[in-house]
Amino acid sequence: MSEIPNNVDLDHDQQLRRALAGWHPKFLQWWNEVGPDGFDTSEVYLRTAISASSDGWANYAYVRMPEYHWGIFLAPPEDRKIGFGDRPDETPWQQVPGEYRKELRRIIVTQGDTEPASVEQQRHLGATAPSLYDMRNLFQVNVEEARHLWAMVYLLQRFFGRDGREEAEELLTRRSGNQDHPRLLNAFNAPIRDWMDFFCFCMFTDRDGKYQLAALSESGFDPLARTTQFMLTEEAFHMFVGETGVQRVVQRTAELMKQTDSEKIHAAGGLDLAVVQKYLNFWYSESLDLFGSEDSSNAATYFASGLKGRYRESSSAISDHRAIDGYYEIARSDGAAEKIPLRRAMNALLRDDYVRDCNRALKRWNSELESRGVDQRLYLPAASFNRKIGVFAGVACDPEGKSISRDEYDSKKSEWLPTEEDRSRSAELMKPVHERGKIASWIAPPAKGVNGMPLDFEYVRLD
Ligand SMILES: [Fe+2]
Ligand SMILES: [Fe+2]
Repeated sequence: MSEIPNNVDLDHDQQLRRALAGWHPKFLQWWNEVGPDGFDTSEVYLRTAISASSDGWANYAYVRMPEYHWGIFLAPPEDRKIGFGDRPDETPWQQVPGEYRKELRRIIVTQGDTEPASVEQQRHLGATAPSLYDMRNLFQVNVEEARHLWAMVYLLQRFFGRDGREEAEELLTRRSGNQDHPRLLNAFNAPIRDWMDFFCFCMFTDRDGKYQLAALSESGFDPLARTTQFMLTEEAFHMFVGETGVQRVVQRTAELMKQTDSEKIHAAGGLDLAVVQKYLNFWYSESLDLFGSEDSSNAATYFASGLKGRYRESSSAISDHRAIDGYYEIARSDGAAEKIPLRRAMNALLRDDYVRDCNRALKRWNSELESRGVDQRLYLPAASFNRKIGVFAGVACDPEGKSISRDEYDSKKSEWLPTEEDRSRSAELMKPVHERGKIASWIAPPAKGVNGMPLDFEYVRLD
């Protein structure tokens, strides 16, 4: 057990050691069964966290993935108050308060379930990686998502007794996309079939994770706050992979459009911009669902109890940390505005922060098109498009949010969301490029390599 890097005094915590000793082999079995397919014996240039200090969390070395040292880290303790909700002046709790046990368990299990799910969703991508650089990034994301699973398992086993241990086991038995035993949230059951899915997933779906973690990073339950703070340091890289991945695709597409003077660039080896747009439509709308209902009594309870705050709750941008009196405007399904009590609107607030962040990235992609002299622009679909959760669930509308009949939606859907044909055409392009320093035709090389290394570096030593 000493090989588990940690700053939670694992050596002196008998009970936790025992629980982890039972779970660890099952985790490895899970990794072998549904983790990255192949590449078990390849040496991957990965970063590993060995301490929570600024120089300890990103140690680069060649590692075989099954031998990765998954660790347990909390951000350093801070002298702080809960700072929001009904009892902002209280000191954060070091144990789970009995009255919030059910809610906290639900929050942790829901977050914990997404981590292994994403590893399962991405398991086949190594085989079609457009470069060793991208392959290495994929595997970095995979081992870190698995570490995030460890982070949540730590909380469950350390603070929730027997039912926590049972939940930790369950996290290894649900399976992404499985009919009988699926993962808890929709987007984590959606297949990730190719690299455009992967980049969009990291950009949009994982970014929901960032916002959820940020909202938990000031939780009154201090171990949860400190765990999620540390996870956010790793999450930044996942966001980078997604945003720059899409950007490199857009750049390449724009180059080929100019070269061929055409919008149809498939034959030239690129993804048509119209197809890129469909992937954005799908993953963006799927990810908006993850924020839950705009009007939510659960969200109000979480906030009131000090379990989950807003995005950057303690920043100077927010002055009223009780949020008792205010209202927040949300859209109804017919598009009309409605004001609801602020606390009930916490999901909507978090989502709106997320949407602003997505729009920032969109601007960047569009300036890539502009600077290359391409007139077309990408967009993010309306919040009402293709939704299954919240006020817009089941609403038939086009990506601009104009409501249409169900029949019209069904007949036009193939113009807005990736079709089987789009996917098989993508698959035709996405032949693996596993040669050092080389890159596939459909994506531009990255602006720089990893950890100061050039693109022409053996990021993965294949055998
Ligand atoms: Fe994660
Ligand atoms: Fe992530």
